[in-house]
Amino acid sequence: MPGFELWSDEERKEVNEVLETGILMRYGFDAPRKGKWKAKELEEAICQRLGSKYAQLTSSGTSALTTALAALGIGAGDEVILPSFTFVASFEAVLSVGAVPVLVDIDETLTLNPDAVRRAVSSKTKCIMPVHMCGAMADVDALVSICKEYNLILLEDACQSFGASYKGRHLGTIGNAGTFSFDFVKTITCGEGGAVITNDKDVYIKCDGYSDHGHDHKGVDRGADLHPFLGYNYRISELHAAVGLAQIRRLDQFLEIQRQNHLQLKNLLSQVPEITFRKIPDPSGDSCTFLSWFLPTEEIARAIVNEFRAQNILAGNFYWYDNNWHYIRKWDHLKNSSALSALNDPQQKALQKFKSQDFAESDAIMSRCISSSISLLWTEDQVREKGEKIMSVIKKMLHPVHAIK
Ligand SMILES: Cc1ncc(COP(=O)(O)O)c(C=O)c1O
Repeated sequence: MPGFELWSDEERKEVNEVLETGILMRYGFDAPRKGKWKAKELEEAICQRLGSKYAQLTSSGTSALTTALAALGIGAGDEVILPSFTFVASFEAVLSVGAVPVLVDIDETLTLNPDAVRRAVSSKTKCIMPVHMCGAMADVDALVSICKEYNLILLEDACQSFGASYKGRHLGTIGNAGTFSFDFVKTITCGEGGAVITNDKDVYIKCDGYSDHGHDHKGVDRGADLHPFLGYNYRISELHAAVGLAQIRRLDQFLEIQRQNHLQLKNLLSQVPEITFRKIPDPSGDSCTFLSWFLPTEEIARAIVNEFRAQNILAGNFYWYDNNWHYIRKWDHLKNSSALSALNDPQQKALQKFKSQDFAESDAIMSRCISSSISLLWTEDQVREKGEKIMSVIKKMLHPVHAIK
């Protein structure tokens, strides 16, 4: 997820334009900003690039999720179904609006298993939140049809999948709203930043106000703005937006390199018959930030990870099963309700349940999965070298006797 890898004069030029005016805030100061509106420009560029009617930039992907949930009317007592494999930000946002996260099993798409979602729907369910993990999509059709059947909101956490698509539609544009992160390690970066996109004008207006203390943004005098509802400060700065503006213009270049490197690595690993790959519902829409692959058993996966570590080639290969931030197994702070301020009763009860909830189906997938991140900087020779090293470790661990010969 490497927009920062190709840092260039284009980013520097955009940032310098902001520094020259000295207007670092996205709202107001019309005269001294001399026509420079980087956040607005980036919002327009996102809409144009993704085919969305509206985009609201925020300070992060986490605040984009919080803003989207609030704008969609999700709050105290409402249940949001999300996957057991995601970054902690997804459930943090749900908790922050007072709603209840309902974590369910994943399948080999590495995100929501539609059968598990169906089993989790209750009278309190208001929203399904697929997380398009590691650059590729959930089983979108199945989830859309569950939302239709039960009249639920679909909020796409596409924070890791900017530029990816499903059957010709960009991820984030399919549900009632979609969110992106532009933090430092994402496909395109602002340094820190995020966005909500939607085709619903009402949702957009709410995102616009909510992320700026409830300002209605109708006049030219911020002090005279009305506040039709409560909001917070989740604003992006002009400096961050300027970086993103340069990066979005380079998105196609980033995606093309990623896809080439991903294909080359996949072709190499495909030579190992014991390796299988993540199920991608629409392979042509994969943004290819990661290549995720499965070993036959947890034991073999662990042995390979340990050998990668011993040979100093683990960097860039993620064994999420042991990762503190991406999988339910290590979220003790969530299971123990370790919050700094009181959670509401339904939230506490829901978190309590995670301690004993069975995630065996997810464990069976995550314990065998390794995700190799795809760099924009690799040369063809480097991809070959990496692939060959990975394959030689795998062969050694799978067939130790033959590998020694
Ligand atoms: C799936 C997912 N959702 C949300 C976020 C939050 O984004 P941010 O770091 O910009 O707050 C991330 C960040 O890694 C993420 O991976």
